[in-house]
Amino acid sequence: PTNNQNKADPKAATSTDLPLNGNLGTLTTGSGNPVLSNQTSQTAGYYGPVLMQDFHLNDKLARFDRERIPERVVHAKGAGAHGYFEVTKDISHLTCAKFLSEVGKRTPVFTRFSTVGGESGSADTARDPRGFAVKFYTEEGNWDMVGNNTPIFFIRDPLKFPDFIHTQKRDPRTHLKNLDMQWDFWSLVPEALHQVMILFSNRGTPDGFRHMHGYSSHTLKLVKADGSFHYVRWHFRTNQGIKNLTAQEAAKLTGTNPDYSTQDLFEAIERGDHPSWTVSIQIFTEEDAMKLKYNPFDVTKVVSQKDYPLHEVGRMVLDRNPENYFAEVEQAAFSPSHMVPGIAPSPDRMLQGRLFSYSDTHRHRLGANYLQLPINSPRDAVRNQQRDGPMCFGSNGGRQPNYEPNSYGGPQEAPETREIDIKSSVDGIIGRHTYKLTDDDFDQPRALYRLLSAKEQQDLVDNIAGSIAQAKPVFQRNILPHLKRIDSEFGSRVEAFLKKHNSGL
Ligand code: HEM
Repeated sequence: PTNNQNKADPKAATSTDLPLNGNLGTLTTGSGNPVLSNQTSQTAGYYGPVLMQDFHLNDKLARFDRERIPERVVHAKGAGAHGYFEVTKDISHLTCAKFLSEVGKRTPVFTRFSTVGGESGSADTARDPRGFAVKFYTEEGNWDMVGNNTPIFFIRDPLKFPDFIHTQKRDPRTHLKNLDMQWDFWSLVPEALHQVMILFSNRGTPDGFRHMHGYSSHTLKLVKADGSFHYVRWHFRTNQGIKNLTAQEAAKLTGTNPDYSTQDLFEAIERGDHPSWTVSIQIFTEEDAMKLKYNPFDVTKVVSQKDYPLHEVGRMVLDRNPENYFAEVEQAAFSPSHMVPGIAPSPDRMLQGRLFSYSDTHRHRLGANYLQLPINSPRDAVRNQQRDGPMCFGSNGGRQPNYEPNSYGGPQEAPETREIDIKSSVDGIIGRHTYKLTDDDFDQPRALYRLLSAKEQQDLVDNIAGSIAQAKPVFQRNILPHLKRIDSEFGSRVEAFLKKHNSGL
């Protein structure tokens, strides 16, 4: 039995919409004993001290003392919803993943949207990428598509991730956000500028979570039963249409309604206006990957949709709000390493680093048994010899042998879900093969700048220069050559802004 008081009226939108004076039986302690009084502690006489033997008081305070778990080290502020994914176009010739096996097939999903850098109480409208994480509860276990609302990322080696994130967090001394840290880092890691340009365009402040696309960003593999594969990038295109906030609108909302996107998603679903996304893939072969001008395993690069257009696969609909935020959203644990047969990682270095990092952080944030939590546990039973650990619930394998191989039978290996032969992606000698910065790294940012309308270019220049202006002159000077290398007009406009606004340049 669990604490199910809110289930009393499924039509109640919030806890304060429940019927008044509902009676759900006797109030109990955590151990199920009736509570005599929930208002008055037990004391020795009217003026006497509180007694140690008042278990209800001790338990209530001690339980309260432990209400918070560590927040996510990134993507701490977010909102989530349940829904489904439905296959609309057949791609069974590309993958043996059972949830993709036929048109019309539906798979339950849980999706969480988030900002990245801020703490769990921070504003939804911050200039930041948005997380776009989808858990597919398939018949072969869970597939987590842990993406963002941007098709690319800032860095291309996982070794840089903790440093990059530190620049987005708070100054170690002042505990304030520090733009010197951000612009110092970006001027020294110019491959980040492609994503930085998206960040400082109006796409850096989407109008809520419903009006943005989602991307796997990384290249993944779709694998067939015979082990052959194609590379794919996943795109979730919003059917609500793209809507962004201007910097001014976002700043205003940060003050007036910091929970803007959380509220917008919740209320839309509550009133039956269920947001949906059309899910598509870009498909290319291993030979294509080797021929491309850009390395498709470098997540600072897009794969051109001109060369590799989108192929529709299905749609995702979000139609049910969580019943309890903590249980379903805060405890949700997505990991790029949760994959099903038929979906596999590419050699993308960042993705490879992520395959380790997420489950590792979950074991820290939620504990070794995080996969037993209802929001994370797969649809079908888990069968293995993993046992025990803190907060182990369920039968823990009951009386079944806790070792393997054994002579008692039990769960059997599935050799037919063979791993792909990755030999073809691996060559050369072990080493630290650095991706050197080349002219190619500036081509896509240049194309992006030139694709923007005059108004969008102006917003980008104002937003990015407005931020650079707050960094020390040395970092302003260091970033400008990179911006000019992207596009000399772009760099010069930023420079003119800095000079005009007496930024110290
Ligand atoms: C969350 C690490 C790159 C998307 C997280 C978390 C960690 C992390 C530790 C917190 C997870 C939790 O506590 O539940 C990393 C590392 C990266 C990386 C080490 C690079 C090496 C990326 C990229 C994307 C991304 C490239 C998108 C394409 C997300 C999302 C979440 C997240 C959406 C939030 C998941 C949720 O809603 O619970 N990341 N990350 N991350 N990351 Fe990354």
